[in-house]
Amino acid sequence: MKRPAPKHRPSPRNGEPRTAPRVAPRVAEVIVTEVGARGDGIASFEDAKLFVPLTVPGDRVRVAVKEAANAKGDGLRADLLDILEPGPGRAAPPCSHFGTCGGCTLQHMEDAAYAAWKVGLVQGALARVGLGDTPLEPLSQTPPAARRRARFAALKRGRRVWLGFNERMSHRLTDLTECPVLRPGLFALVEPLRGLLLSVLPDGGGCDVIATDLEGGIDLVLVGPRSLDRAARERLVAFGEAEGVARISWQADERGTSEPIAHRRPVAVSFAGLPVTPPPGAFLQASAEGEAALVAAVLANIGEPKRVADLFAGLGTFAVPLAQRAAVHAVEGDAPALAALNKAVGALRLTTERRDLFENPLTAKELARFDAVVFDPPRAGAAAQAQALAGSKVPRVVAVSCNPATFARDARTLVDGGYVLSRVYPVDQFLWSAHVEVVGVFSRP
Ligand SMILES: C[S@@+](CC[C@H](N)C(=O)[O-])C[C@H]1O[C@@H](n2cnc3c(N)ncnc32)[C@H](O)[C@@H]1O
Repeated sequence: MKRPAPKHRPSPRNGEPRTAPRVAPRVAEVIVTEVGARGDGIASFEDAKLFVPLTVPGDRVRVAVKEAANAKGDGLRADLLDILEPGPGRAAPPCSHFGTCGGCTLQHMEDAAYAAWKVGLVQGALARVGLGDTPLEPLSQTPPAARRRARFAALKRGRRVWLGFNERMSHRLTDLTECPVLRPGLFALVEPLRGLLLSVLPDGGGCDVIATDLEGGIDLVLVGPRSLDRAARERLVAFGEAEGVARISWQADERGTSEPIAHRRPVAVSFAGLPVTPPPGAFLQASAEGEAALVAAVLANIGEPKRVADLFAGLGTFAVPLAQRAAVHAVEGDAPALAALNKAVGALRLTTERRDLFENPLTAKELARFDAVVFDPPRAGAAAQAQALAGSKVPRVVAVSCNPATFARDARTLVDGGYVLSRVYPVDQFLWSAHVEVVGVFSRP
């Protein structure tokens, strides 16, 4: 069985190529036995692990073995040439960009095999820290067309703009002609954005576009055009009018602050019915469905606390619903996010604190006034805060994470500090990617 040729248009390179130790490609025939944590199939080749993207267990494939899989040299990487015999868990990918686009790398897995693999990612991470016996709740899955937030990359060459996601393991761009994971309203902006960026970007120039589908309309942030002259600003304003975009901002670079360009309508995201106005580009759970699953798991397991600390609180995804049943102290490092939450809280029993929780976690003494803690750090996890919690007497901790590996590391710290990890909820919010989120429930016996 031949692999279908990708239907995407040829893409330019967006940045420098990845450097990896190279060896001359060799063609080989192998059988895939499992799918690894990054979503690549794994086969055995000359006593080494061979990583073959886009394959499933049972696939007999012809591959070009080409390079060490990582800088440490443990394992080899191969390109898939032909599927000689498909494995039992193989399915037809729904998107024509599958195979090249780096956004979804697992559309070729049949639903049950895919769900089992995602749960296995969480189980594997827990097993590696000696917590493999933890009971897992069923996987909660976000459907297609649900992603409310996307970061597109764009590049202009001559009279053409490429706009989409980076290809797998590459800085090349997949020029999107469809995207089954995005909300339709977000995808509908892709073609108009190409037209806009053709007139805004210089030849050879690129930028990122963060698009969020909010209550009130779509919020756009252009990140990267170094400067915007008056004509470009006027084009952005006209684009907002023509396409009904609620808010447009511009940010000169990744670390810069965003500057409002057009604000046609108020935008908001509601947590437990409370509208919060996110600052441009603010963190938001990727889908309303995923957010609902995470919030439900937190609320179902928080117990009946009087005082809760919500650490890494963002805009208040957990803090606001928690504040309807307890006094909540929300701690977060990002000032604009906290300002947005503060502005919205009204009569809720919710206090906020800006604090770097990596450098300056809440100490055991500070934690003593809470009878429950929720923490939801970025992918790096919350090593220092977990250490402080391990030395505290807080009876109940609910940890939310987008990275099973750092979640497991922090869970081990809590368990070593005397907590019992009673259950874990896997949440699949990034459909067809190698990402999976978790909620873990810890209590002191
Ligand atoms: C995964 S998000 C979760 C946000 C929120 N709980 C939610 O669900 O929407 C992680 C949050 O941690 C914040 N953050 C990142 N590094 C931090 C640090 N060192 N100290 C405090 N907050 C940090 C980010 O600004 C972001 O809001």
